[in-house]
Amino acid sequence: MAHGLSSVSSAAAMQPLSAAPSDALVGEVRVPGDKSISHRALMLGALAVGETRIEGLLEGEDVLNTAQVMAALGATVKRDEASGLWHVWGRGVGGLAEPEDLLDFGNSGTGVRLAMGVIAGQPISAVLTGDASLRRRPMERVMAPLRRMGVTFQAREGGRLPMAMRGPETLLPLEYALPVASAQVKSAVLMAGLAAPGRTSVIEPHPTRDHSERMLRHFGAEVAIEALSEGGRRIDVTGQPELTGSAITVPADPSSAAFPLVAALLVPGSDVRLPGVCMNPHRCGLITTLQEMGGDIAIENAREEGGEPIADLRVRGSRLKAVEVPAERAPSMIDEYPVLAVAASCAEGTTVMRGLAELRVKESDRLATTARGLESCGLSVEEGSDSLAVRGVGGHPPGGNNTPIKTELDHRIAMSFLVLGLASERPVLIDDAAPIATSFPGFAEMMASLGASLEAAA
Ligand code: S3P
Repeated sequence: MAHGLSSVSSAAAMQPLSAAPSDALVGEVRVPGDKSISHRALMLGALAVGETRIEGLLEGEDVLNTAQVMAALGATVKRDEASGLWHVWGRGVGGLAEPEDLLDFGNSGTGVRLAMGVIAGQPISAVLTGDASLRRRPMERVMAPLRRMGVTFQAREGGRLPMAMRGPETLLPLEYALPVASAQVKSAVLMAGLAAPGRTSVIEPHPTRDHSERMLRHFGAEVAIEALSEGGRRIDVTGQPELTGSAITVPADPSSAAFPLVAALLVPGSDVRLPGVCMNPHRCGLITTLQEMGGDIAIENAREEGGEPIADLRVRGSRLKAVEVPAERAPSMIDEYPVLAVAASCAEGTTVMRGLAELRVKESDRLATTARGLESCGLSVEEGSDSLAVRGVGGHPPGGNNTPIKTELDHRIAMSFLVLGLASERPVLIDDAAPIATSFPGFAEMMASLGASLEAAA
């Protein structure tokens, strides 16, 4: 009976959505603020003394959960309704309070993993949980270094949420070589390192997004970065700084821009502008790859805002050809493979993507969900343990067959297959569009404003 009950309640909350073959997409859309930068702004704001003012914060569910968690830890977090600005009054490094209740991170791996680093630096206990997708994801990768700093954990089998953790009275500094290239693990250790005396160091095998390093400096922390031989990097943070509340401007999220961008490339005759997109070099792998495939993407008005490079993108419908995407590029486009696979399905020839092991532990097993979805849209794919080959049709793929694509609570799978529907012969139906609100609130309306036809299905 319990099984029957849970399937009834989750089915009731699902929002099937269908995307039909589209005429040219035309216009300008400003995609929401960057998710990675938004989480970090709230957390560093909570660890700083004084007021942090955030412009352009992503108001998606993932980030709203982080805002609630920071408030539960004693920071004051407010949205000014008139201006849309967010204000955080922090409690200083080591000054956060013990939360009275469970901390619920919803769907967000970034939220929970970075917050583990924040909580590690406070002598408090906290119990952390999330939705069904997040409760399946591995947390051991963050627990391992934090344990060495003196944090204790009690988690479910395999290091899964819910988990209880307690920060020690005095955290130990750490030098930690990351076993996988993960900005989340790096950032968790750096956040914790703020509370430890002396220097905490992270050595990463391949450079990953450096928003934490940039923002830590912006708040007044001392961060040293050294390039290592063979492409790695060493990041040192000096502990126990006085972080000062700061003004942050959040640029548009390149991982969200990826969806209208790929849709514009795939739908013939399209011409779409995407202003103010974050062009952090560790986030630009998709643009590089699509340009190699022949995509017409102009990068205009490159400038810097709030410590991050940004630019306006102009994207026009293009005929794409297959490429091989090297494994070393994976950290700079880790969230973009599902939508790249959609682009590849329209390209001429077989696109091969390697170095994808991390996709198995995202909001869903993205290698499998992408491969199964493409197959159900009539495409031929080969899924390896850490690779994906997609045989492109050199035009419009067949599209859906009325069986909804299984999105497995994964916002990026949902948006990727809606993009495919816009470029296919037949509409593509996804089983649940609700998770899109975790990272891209207003996605369907924004795509519709460019001319896309997305329709709620019964
Ligand atoms: C993120 C890092 C990446 C990425 C995630 C956001 C971050 O995860 O997939 O969406 O903000 O640090 P990993 O660190 O697990 O690669």
